[in-house]
Amino acid sequence: MKLQTLAVHAGDRKKPGDFIPVTTPIYAASSFFYERTEDLDDVFSGEKSGQSYARFGNPTVAAVEEQVAALEGAEVCIATSSGMGAIQLALLAALTDRRKSIVAADALYGATIRVLTEMPALAGVETAFCDVCDLERLDAVTAKARPAAIYVETISNPLMRVPALDRIAEIAHSHDALLIVDSTFTTPVLARPLALGADIVVHSATKYLAGHGDALGGFFLAGGEHRETAEMLHHTLGYNLGAFAAYFIMRGVKTLPLRMRKQCRNALQTAAWLERHPAVEKLRFPAADGHPDRETAAALLPDGLFGAMMSFEVKGGKAAAFSVIDRLRMIVPAPSLGDVHTMMLHPATTSHGQMPAAQRERLGIGEAMLRLSVGIEAADDIIGDLEQALP
Ligand SMILES: Cc1ncc(COP(=O)(O)O)c(C=O)c1O
Repeated sequence: MKLQTLAVHAGDRKKPGDFIPVTTPIYAASSFFYERTEDLDDVFSGEKSGQSYARFGNPTVAAVEEQVAALEGAEVCIATSSGMGAIQLALLAALTDRRKSIVAADALYGATIRVLTEMPALAGVETAFCDVCDLERLDAVTAKARPAAIYVETISNPLMRVPALDRIAEIAHSHDALLIVDSTFTTPVLARPLALGADIVVHSATKYLAGHGDALGGFFLAGGEHRETAEMLHHTLGYNLGAFAAYFIMRGVKTLPLRMRKQCRNALQTAAWLERHPAVEKLRFPAADGHPDRETAAALLPDGLFGAMMSFEVKGGKAAAFSVIDRLRMIVPAPSLGDVHTMMLHPATTSHGQMPAAQRERLGIGEAMLRLSVGIEAADDIIGDLEQALP
């Protein structure tokens, strides 16, 4: 063979031996074949399980799907290229062959609100937003809207409201609607919404699941009855997670329980300190004194943990909030959350920057608000950095 032919073929396309690698390798291949063409035909037609084309499956992605499904107690797990991909898949799966409306919590991650209100793919779908912690109101809105699904976050971004998932599942089902839960802030370590009656759970794996600020991804998780629709949508729309990100997420999930518990314990200490600081107003943390959902959170979350996310307002408005961010020395002022390092952002100009100002103000996402994602560092160092940064 000529050099250019050898360059393309030599050393490649070997069958793995009888060894077992200690971690699932990154399968960068975008297609797979068999010694007999008939086998590929059987895989394509669904008669035989196996790999064929990476949009339909990839061994690295399948491994992380199996891992996260086990943690969440789900029969179906589909890894997506981002949390937003998982959210769209969940909404489309709920809307397929069902009524064309959604009832959603009024305080959600900014891009989720955008998907629910503006996405052309959802044209013709009406969304009614309401306070999902007010169960009577939610019941009335659901009765009127007759939605395909109710959509909530376990701990809402950035207001840290905690809806009663079991009660909301009852309301949804009594109106023949599904319950979709974004459990990004809780992960399966703090909550398993499927066991509480939710029908579909979504995650931004970019956050706690990956946990190290190095991968973008999401998960759609559900019971077996949603497999056919979800897989049909997934295989045709192509929101696939790549093999490299799948590997990073799988590695991250191995330490998720350890990280999450440490982050929650650090958050309890940090919140107790912030609560007493004279420049801090309106600390929003589910364990804080006077938090409207403290009891619901205590019932939902295990072992006296209340999550590792909080937000608060600084006296002095937007300028004071920006100055705090600029003075940080260790806390990372980047627009994400859930990483091993503590992070701070200004919701009104980042995560909720696309929301009309009037809507933001009405919900209480003010210009003075800062959101803190507590990391795994020593709690003293987190508090020390806040102390020198706050006015
Ligand atoms: C609660 C929540 N859900 C979903 C998302 C979207 O995730 P991704 O950025 O991975 O698409 C985010 C992003 O910040 C989020 O905070």
